[in-house]
Parts: sequence; C-alpha cells; structure tokens
Amino acid sequence: MSLCLMIPSASTIIKIIPYICTLKSSYNPLRQKKGIMSKKNKLERFAENKTFPNLFEYSYERIMSEGFPLQGKWHVDFFHNDSPIVLELGCGKGEYTVGLARAHCDINYIGVDIKGARIWRGLKQSNEEGLKNVAFLRARIDQIEHFFAKDEVAEIWVTFPDPHPGEGERNARHRLTSPEFLDRYRKIVSPDGILNLKTDSPIMYEFTLHDVVEKQGLPLLYATDDLYANDDNLEVKTIRTFYEQMWLDQGLTIKYIRFRINAEC
Ligand SMILES: C[S@@+](CC[C@H](N)C(=O)[O-])C[C@H]1O[C@@H](n2cnc3c(N)ncnc32)[C@H](O)[C@@H]1O
Repeated sequence: MSLCLMIPSASTIIKIIPYICTLKSSYNPLRQKKGIMSKKNKLERFAENKTFPNLFEYSYERIMSEGFPLQGKWHVDFFHNDSPIVLELGCGKGEYTVGLARAHCDINYIGVDIKGARIWRGLKQSNEEGLKNVAFLRARIDQIEHFFAKDEVAEIWVTFPDPHPGEGERNARHRLTSPEFLDRYRKIVSPDGILNLKTDSPIMYEFTLHDVVEKQGLPLLYATDDLYANDDNLEVKTIRTFYEQMWLDQGLTIKYIRFRINAEC
C-alpha cells in the first residue's frame, strides 16, 4: 500500500481538527440534538440503575441456568397484590409504564427494554414519585416467556417499535406484533389478554392489522390510522412517548390498534 494513502495531507488535517474537537468535547451540539448520550452519562445511569429496587436485570445465561425468581410470583413476591399486570414492551424511557401507573394505582405496570440507559428515566421518575405499582425489566423481548408464567399478564403495550420496513419474511419476523412474537405473548397472557400497538409506521400498522389480526381472526377492539384526527377522549391520547413526540413534530400521523391476542374459541 502506498504511504500517501495512509497519511492525510496538511490541508486535510486542518479541515478535520474542528470535528475531532467537537467529538471529544463533552458538549456536542450534534449529539444533543439527536439525543445521543455520552459514554459518561450512560455509565452513571447504569450505576444508578443498580440502586433502584424495582429494576430486574438478569443475563440470559443466568435465566437459563437458575430460572427467573419472579416468574409466576410477580403478584405475591413483588407487587404484594393481585391487581392485573400490564407490560410495555420496548418501553424506552417508560412513558406509558409511569404515566398509566400514575393514573391507575390498582394496576401493576412493567416496562421492558434492553437499553438500561433509557429505562433509567422511568426508574428515576417512579422512585422519586414513590409509585409502588411500577417495575422495569432489562431483558430481550424475544425471551419474554422466561420472565412471566402462563396467564400472569393481562395486557401488553407496544409503543413505537422498530417497523423493520424491509420486504420479506425475515423482516416481518422481527416486528413485535409478528405471529412469532404473538406466540411468545400467548405463553404469558390470560385468555382474554389484549395488545395495544401505537406506531407512526404505515408498514407496521398495515402489517399488524391485515397480516396478523385479520389473518389470525383475532378480535379487533379498535383501529385508527390517524389517532389525533378523532375527537374522542381515549386515554391513549393522554400520554406521548419520546419517539411519538419526535414523529409528531415531523408532521407524521399516529396509528393505534387494540386487539385480543387469542382468537375466540
Ligand atoms: C423506537 S424505540 C421506542 C421507545 C419508546 N417506546 C418510545 O416510544 O419512545 C424502540 C425501543 O425498543 C427497544 N427494543 C427493540 N427491540 C428490542 C428487543 N428485542 N428486546 C428489548 N428491547 C427492544 C429498543 O431498545 C428501544 O428502546
């Protein structure tokens, strides 16, 4: 390889110095605008997460060897009540988990996400407010059946999931409302368990409505491709997630579907 390919010219170095300075600076306007967190902030959040009594994080290896201690015991050993349990999957900062928990003290809410730095926000809020009906689980949703027992969950919220927009079976399988994911949810929800999907994505909306709910003959309770165009007083309108607000600011319409996870027998 010739050396001139590896050593940048003096003019290139002068041009890239400001970029290097920006990347190294703790205040980086580009990162701030995109909501990208510094490594230091992340580490601080991971450390604080360990102090919250309502966060559960177990490695897959540990779950496989020991099992999850609260599986089938969330009511008795954690919430100390028999109120219904509602999950928010891919909860991010947990706006639904915390927002719904504030409004319904007779329902238990568990936010599930793999990203600890995001769920920190919901953990911090729920602890500062002393919400006893909130927990967070740092786990992969594709392993959800290892964390709950059959019939332990009453309802699921899926809020602004990645739509995996590409064509074909491989992308469809990764959507959180795909037949594969619904089979996982069926292992943990009660027979009349409900799934709520809120999304900005027409692909996610159409796929869920037609390729899943209609094809599987699941009872559809509500569907709209423009939630805020209707003037009804649905509670779903009262809470906006981080991603939802971002999409609304960009002028996108919000879609909402509510259906039963099991077909009527
Ligand atoms: C687009 S964000 C939406 C976050 C939040 N619900 C909102 O509306 O602001 C999708 C979230 O799902 C989480 N997620 C995606 N796939 C996941 C998986 N298989 N297991 C756990 N979390 C997952 C990501 O970490 C991310 O926080």
